[in-house]
Amino acid sequence: MRAEDCAPLVRAIALAEQVRGTTTPNPAVGCVLVREGEIVGEGATRPVGGAHAEVVALRAAGSRARGACAYVTLEPCAHHGRTPPCTDALIAAGVVRVVHACADPNPPAAGGAVTLRAAGVEVVGPDAISPLLADTVTAQLEGFLSVVSRGRPHVTLKLAQTADGQLTAPDGERWITGPAARRAVHRWRATVDAVLVGSGTVRSDDPQLDVRHVPAVVQPRPVVVDTRLRTPCDARVVRPGLLLVTAAGASKHGAWRERRDALEAAGAQLVEVACGPDGRLDLAAGLAALADHGICAVFAEPGRRLAEALLGADLVDRVVLHVAVGLGGLGMAPAVDLPTGPGWRLERVGGAGPDVVWQVRRGLDGAR
Ligand SMILES: NC(=O)c1ccc[n+]([C@@H]2O[C@H](COP(=O)([O-])OP(=O)(O)OC[C@H]3O[C@@H](n4cnc5c(N)ncnc54)[C@H](OP(=O)(O)O)[C@@H]3O)[C@@H](O)[C@H]2O)c1
Repeated sequence: MRAEDCAPLVRAIALAEQVRGTTTPNPAVGCVLVREGEIVGEGATRPVGGAHAEVVALRAAGSRARGACAYVTLEPCAHHGRTPPCTDALIAAGVVRVVHACADPNPPAAGGAVTLRAAGVEVVGPDAISPLLADTVTAQLEGFLSVVSRGRPHVTLKLAQTADGQLTAPDGERWITGPAARRAVHRWRATVDAVLVGSGTVRSDDPQLDVRHVPAVVQPRPVVVDTRLRTPCDARVVRPGLLLVTAAGASKHGAWRERRDALEAAGAQLVEVACGPDGRLDLAAGLAALADHGICAVFAEPGRRLAEALLGADLVDRVVLHVAVGLGGLGMAPAVDLPTGPGWRLERVGGAGPDVVWQVRRGLDGAR
């Protein structure tokens, strides 16, 4: 990687960030074309069925793409999917060098670098670029990479807690954290495909689970993990797009069928999965089923029971703790047992208004 490669690659990452959450199940990719030190075209992935980032940038550059270097966050695809291969478009446009920050592990699309090199294009891959940039792109593409490599969405678990580890406000107030932390939650929601809670949270809080307070091009789908279909039909999440992960083979008596019919009439879709030996829904199977519904990145905002179950099943890839340090005394006790295994590392410690934000995550290697 040359010193002059850094700025355009960072620009490509920024372009990808602008479309994160809008391209699923395709990855959100950014591309910048530079010729003789000047940006001649740039773009990001269009919503599914639309052009990939490379093609958007090539169209913007027109004939100025000849002799250019393409900076792409993800290795250009080499296959005919919903759109033709980006490698063909880059080669036909006369691009002479491609710098990409992440290899495409998706078997049908992989091999872009090999195809480009075979056509005489110089390729600089993830091994040769700054680890910081490569890591940034891996985190940006975590949903896509998770589904391709593990068959389940990437899961971020967010909990709002008091200093002494309570998940409900001591004075019976609805909110534990302040407006800045709650706005941060809406920013998270805007970057994912689904916001997930357990049926307990729906029954007690009646949350909307949508993006408000910040702009959203695409709303995430609400998902409720609800073994026995106890979600009230008039709950705010019951709207078109809702996915209800529920038990296959549950006793389907008349009242259950009535609830199912009413929920489906309101737009909910049932996702039936098996229960494990403990009689609880098999959460790994539930997440795999969500991937089949095109969901790559999940933001989970459950209560204690589902949070502990997800952590216990090793199905969480990032934990975001919002701690109201002004509530619950002077100590600092995490609300749940936090993962400490290999691969976990601190991602961020910061603030949101008066609240503390504490984030840990792990890489995809070795995670279930
Ligand atoms: N501070 C925070 O961050 C936060 C966030 C959300 C909620 N809360 C609070 O938490 C309380 C609700 O807590 P909660 O624990 O009932 O909410 P929850 O964790 O969102 O929902 C729990 C329910 O999920 C369902 N579930 C389905 N499969 C499961 C599995 N494999 N393992 C565990 N649960 C499974 C169970 O109900 P079924 O048997 O019906 O399936 C279970 O009762 C409320 O007071 C709410 O205000 C706090």
